[in-house]
Amino acid sequence: MIDVAFLGTDVRAAGTAVVIDVLRATSTITLALSSGYERVLVAGSVDEATALRTDGRTLAGEVGCARAPGFDLGNSPEETLDPRTTDLVLATTNGAPAIVASSQVADDVLVASLLNLDAVCEQLAGREDILLVCAGTDGRVSIEDVYLAGRISAALEGPRSDAAHVAEAVAAAYTTAFDALSASGGAVGLRREGLESDIAFCAQESIVDVVGRLTATQGGAAVVTVATVAVGASADAPVEA
Ligand code: MLT
Repeated sequence: MIDVAFLGTDVRAAGTAVVIDVLRATSTITLALSSGYERVLVAGSVDEATALRTDGRTLAGEVGCARAPGFDLGNSPEETLDPRTTDLVLATTNGAPAIVASSQVADDVLVASLLNLDAVCEQLAGREDILLVCAGTDGRVSIEDVYLAGRISAALEGPRSDAAHVAEAVAAAYTTAFDALSASGGAVGLRREGLESDIAFCAQESIVDVVGRLTATQGGAAVVTVATVAVGASADAPVEA
């Protein structure tokens, strides 16, 4: 069954949870891994991320879309294009907590964005019990996340829930991904902070072929690395690093 949780707080146990925060956390994680960061340590809060700071780690994240105080990078995907260290620690308002919550209840957790849409669909083909987890924005359902959930659902074979049909209908309502992202609540804060160019960047489809996957937990953070498990293969349980 393909199902959708419209908010990160609605995540439940599932064979595979696919976390979606198009603007911008899961786009940033995807591009960071594609750019050469070996691990993204996804923290549940700014304080938890700060506690994970070491010499070999770059801290990235936002508060109200702006770079978190004292952090090395904000949450714009393009800031990760030139890795400074092997590890990126990321704290964001909605997407990061959705990943941490998913890591606690799902057997396998993948990270999806438009940037790696085709690669995500390839990873999901043949899997059963898929939950597409939309992070939302500050407790509200967000168009951009539901749009991507609908795009993924529509690309997969198999039975789907009413929630998945709803997401597919939302996706079909927009001519382009950019239209959907531009119409979303998540775009409002980015425009306010002068980060409007991130909207067009995150609307690009399938420009990278890596998929982030939860492989461990460390100090409360979800450790995400490039998925290497073959399509449909059973995943090893994440380990405490
Ligand atoms: C979040 O996790 O809340 C978002 O990624 C916010 C943002 O656009 O930075």
